Amino acid sequence: MDLIKRPRRNRKNHKTRQWIAETDINRGQMIYPLFVVDGNRQEQKIDALPGQCRYSPELILKKCDEVMDKGVGGVVLFPALEEHIKNSQATEALNPDNLLCRTVREIKKRFPDLPLMTDVALDPYSSDGHDGLVKDGKVLNDETVEILAKMSVLHAHAGADVIAPSDMMDGRILAIRDALDENGFEEVQTLSYAAKYASAFYGPFRSALDSAPRFGDKKTYQLNPRNTGEALLEAELDEDEGADILMVKPALSYLDIITQVKAQTYLPVAAYNVSGEYSMIKAASEKGWIDEKLAIGEMLISIKRAGADMIFTYFALDEYTLP
Ligand code: PBG
Repeated sequence: MDLIKRPRRNRKNHKTRQWIAETDINRGQMIYPLFVVDGNRQEQKIDALPGQCRYSPELILKKCDEVMDKGVGGVVLFPALEEHIKNSQATEALNPDNLLCRTVREIKKRFPDLPLMTDVALDPYSSDGHDGLVKDGKVLNDETVEILAKMSVLHAHAGADVIAPSDMMDGRILAIRDALDENGFEEVQTLSYAAKYASAFYGPFRSALDSAPRFGDKKTYQLNPRNTGEALLEAELDEDEGADILMVKPALSYLDIITQVKAQTYLPVAAYNVSGEYSMIKAASEKGWIDEKLAIGEMLISIKRAGADMIFTYFALDEYTLP
C-alpha cells in the first residue's frame, strides 16, 4: 500500500510506546477509603468488597502504616456503627467522642503527616439510612446542613485535614466553610462530592456500612444519571461556595462528566472509583475472567485520562500494571 501516514510506526515497540504515553498514575494522587468499626482487634471481612475490611481503631493504625509505606496520598474514613447507636436524629454524628472522632485523633497522633479526610453525611448515623434528616418521608435540607456544619467542626477539632461532604444537600459547602473559619480552621480544606449521582454502583459500600436507605432512594438529592447539566451546575455552585476540590462520583460511568467539570473549573478535580467498580473487577478476576492487574491499571488510567487529578480508590494498595 502506498500510505503516507502509518500511525502504527509510533507503536512499533515498548520503548516507542513509552515515549508517547500521555497519562500516568501514581499512588500519591490516590486516596484510600477505610472502614472503622468499634471494638478490639477487629478485622471484619466485607463480603461485597473482597480484600477490604472493617477495622477497629488500633488495626486501622496498622493499615495506615501500609498506606504511608506505599506513598498513598491519604485516607478517607467511614464509620460502621451498630444499629442501636443509630437514630432518626443521627445524634451520634454530633458526639465529639464518637467512633469517627476517636479514630481521627488516634491516626493523627501516630501519623501527623498522613492526610486524613472525613466523609460528612448522616447516613452512617441515621436509622433511616439517608444522608439527611427525614421528616414525613422527606429529606430535609436546611436542618441537615446545620448538623453537617457542626459535624465538620468536630472532625476538624479531632484533626481532619479535609472535610468531604457527600450528602448533596444545597448550600452545605458555604455553611461548612463558614463554620470552619469561625472556629479557626481556615486551613482545613473542603472537598465537595459536587457531582454525585444516584448510582447502583454504591451497593457494596452500603452493605459494608449497613447504610442502605430504609425507605425510598436517594434520588431527591443525588443526581440523575441521565443528566449532565445539573452536575455542571452543582460543580459551579460548590466552587462559588468556596470548595477547594470538586469530586465526580462514581467515576467509570461518568468519565464524560469528569472531563466537562475539569473543563469548566481551575479547581482540582477528584473522582471516586466507587465500591461497585472495585468489586466488579475483583469478582471477574476471582473467576479468572480478566487479568486483574491490567484491568486495574486500565481503569485508573481511564479516570486520569478523562481529567481527574485525584482518585479515591479501594485499589490504592493493590498491584497494578500500566497498559
Ligand atoms: C454516603 C456515601 C456513599 C458512598 C460514599 N459516601 C454511598 C451513598 O451515597 O449511598 C459510596 C462509596 C462507594 O460506593 O464506594 N454518603
